[in-house]
Amino acid sequence: MLGRGGELMRVALGVSGGVAAYKAAELVRRLQQEKLAVQVVMTRGAQEFVAPLTFAALTGEKVITELFGEKQATANLESAIEHIAVAQRIDLLVIAPATADILAKLANGIADDFLTTLYLATKAPVIVAPAMNVNMWEHAATQKNLETLRARGVRVVQPDEGYLACGMVGPGRLAGIEAIASAVCETLGLRHDLEGMKIVVTAGPTIEDVDPVRMLTNRSSGKMGYAVADAAWRRGAHVTLVSGPTELHAPNEVDWVPVRSTEEMHVAVRERAKDADALIMAAAVADYRPAERGTQKIKRSEGRLTLELEPTADILAELGREKGVRILVGFAAETDHVAENARRKLAAKGADMIVANDVTQEGAGFDTDTNIVTFFLRDGREVALPKMPKFDVANRILDCVMELRKGVK
Ligand code: PMT
Repeated sequence: MLGRGGELMRVALGVSGGVAAYKAAELVRRLQQEKLAVQVVMTRGAQEFVAPLTFAALTGEKVITELFGEKQATANLESAIEHIAVAQRIDLLVIAPATADILAKLANGIADDFLTTLYLATKAPVIVAPAMNVNMWEHAATQKNLETLRARGVRVVQPDEGYLACGMVGPGRLAGIEAIASAVCETLGLRHDLEGMKIVVTAGPTIEDVDPVRMLTNRSSGKMGYAVADAAWRRGAHVTLVSGPTELHAPNEVDWVPVRSTEEMHVAVRERAKDADALIMAAAVADYRPAERGTQKIKRSEGRLTLELEPTADILAELGREKGVRILVGFAAETDHVAENARRKLAAKGADMIVANDVTQEGAGFDTDTNIVTFFLRDGREVALPKMPKFDVANRILDCVMELRKGVK
């Protein structure tokens, strides 16, 4: 799961035919609150209880009801392979309510409609929330099917006990929406531990214009910083992302502040740093800019051209001097003597932590979906992480920020 750059995680919600099918609408809303995109897949039985239109209205997406297109007679290749596309796209499949019939089909590998085919085709984790009559629930066949599914890694959200639609009392009522949503969040590793925190993140390159035609910049794609912003937002923080020019998109709820030059980034970060709880500076900021910016294109002439450069504001060091209780995380992009340089930057910039990456390593640094980093902390700890997706690196940085914050509270 790359620093998804604002792309939502996708959950397929399978709805099978039981009285509790209407509760799936509430589950859609609940999952959307968790910033998940929901694709609803209904069995024919489910459509006897709730119209697909209800789910289409809630999700803004087509509800999948058939394996072979709207009318079976018009089956085409596109609809026939749609289950494979959905299977590959989703991060999780949750079936709620799951009837005795659907559990039996899943346990036995029967794939006679879209939902059962999707179950076989996906590698994503699967959760089932059964709902049925108490006798059907207690039947040896159903319990055996559940055992088979559990053994295969399927997570079962136990039904509640109580009055059932059939008039009987006992286990079989669909588990509460919160219980199902928690199982989904837990399985996807979603947390809300940053709720109430204000985090400022910088990302991307800065650009220093030489003349109206030419510029000085660097190879930063913004992926690392956007992954941090994305992960912090998913964990409930209020996130401001001050970004140099990139091709990435931030989630709508992130306060996105586009900048171009180091000075623009400087002004934007200073302004937003005032009430921030943490600042995470992943941007590759230009250290120098042309001492003078020509208003006309520099003309070619014979011989060498000397461009005079002056240092830009060191944003991180400036914030370090006025750190207060804010947690300040800087990065270090190095090509040699990584540990020495990182330790030097940690002290010089007054940061709580430096995330160092050797940008010459394969799978690390600029414009990759992964990174290989070492954390250098002020208390002397050094934590080397293996190669991992930038989104996971982002979460490890945020875990550290939380730990450091506990120390200053
Ligand atoms: O964007 P990607 O393609 O995903 O690549 C990720 C990355 C390589 C850009 C990222 O992992 C990274 O290392 N970012 C920091 C790049 C950098 O500018 O490193 P530095 O060692 O030159 O700077 C040290 C720290 O000071 C950085 O936090 C930087 O944001 C900050 N800085 C630097 C110069 C300056 N004038 N002001 C600053 O605040």
